[in-house]
Amino acid sequence: MSASLTGGAKVAGVVGAPVRHSLSPLIHNAWIEALGLDAVYAPFSPPEAGFAPFVQGLRGGVIAGLNVTLPFKEQALALADAPTPAAQAAGAANLLLFAADGEIIADNTDGTGLLSAFARQAPGFDPAAAPVVILGAGGAARGAAAAFVAAGAPEVLILNRTLARAEAIAERLGRGVRALGLDQAAHAFAGAGAVINATSAGLSGQGELDVPLAATPAGCVVMDMVYKPLITPFLAKAQAEGRRTVDGLAMLIGQAVPSFTAFFGVAPPAGVDVRALALKSLGLNERIWRRC
Ligand code: ATR
Repeated sequence: MSASLTGGAKVAGVVGAPVRHSLSPLIHNAWIEALGLDAVYAPFSPPEAGFAPFVQGLRGGVIAGLNVTLPFKEQALALADAPTPAAQAAGAANLLLFAADGEIIADNTDGTGLLSAFARQAPGFDPAAAPVVILGAGGAARGAAAAFVAAGAPEVLILNRTLARAEAIAERLGRGVRALGLDQAAHAFAGAGAVINATSAGLSGQGELDVPLAATPAGCVVMDMVYKPLITPFLAKAQAEGRRTVDGLAMLIGQAVPSFTAFFGVAPPAGVDVRALALKSLGLNERIWRRC
């Protein structure tokens, strides 16, 4: 929030259930403040059944736009009048923009965020150089698969505990995407350029994912979309094997960049270390974890 907020301030925000622990207000408001914008970014948490009327009520541009988080991303896409190809491919929207004429535009910047996280934390990584393995078959996995297909990955392998869910994504995304069971991990890892955990297994309090990361080539980059904890057991295992890793916080910040530009018409300022702010709010020591 800018210190000089007026009655003409531009408003954007994030909607989710729950949204209390979202880092997006911290990130966007730090950028707003640094730029001195007359703007604010607020959290919204309607009840699950109240998402559609909440969004419909915002038609007309009273609010510039919203980031959308769990569990509303699929609904957000369904409610929009004009989905971008990125949102359609992901089957979900993390960004809604409210045009003055009443139109709702749905976009998805998670894919951009994912690729920018790789660019930042694994410099030189080429998404088009080798097959990419994605673990999981929920919305996050589908978005990641769509992003790597768009980035030219020669093959995307989706591995899931429940094979049928992986097959459904592979069918939707078409050629170059294959579904396998988690028991095929060693085989799939052998030629992988990247392995991405898009399951919820790394989340605090959830079970661990037991996959043979040692089967990946030495140059393989390993990523976890979860950022709480920042170094999940999955990433710790990859680091123990000597693999380069990419964390979920880099993706969160990466998806916020194009969202901010879409809301406020200006790019985030370069000089604000939002990663350090986010790490502090997660209670982590930035000297240990800071890598971008
Ligand atoms: P989202 O839409 O947020 O990506 P989701 O639809 O709940 O989340 O999907 C969670 C994913 O994590 C699924 O792929 C799930 O596997 P199943 O489809 O077999 O349920 C996967 N997952 C969760 N916990 C897991 C665990 N302990 N081991 C392996 N996979 C797990």
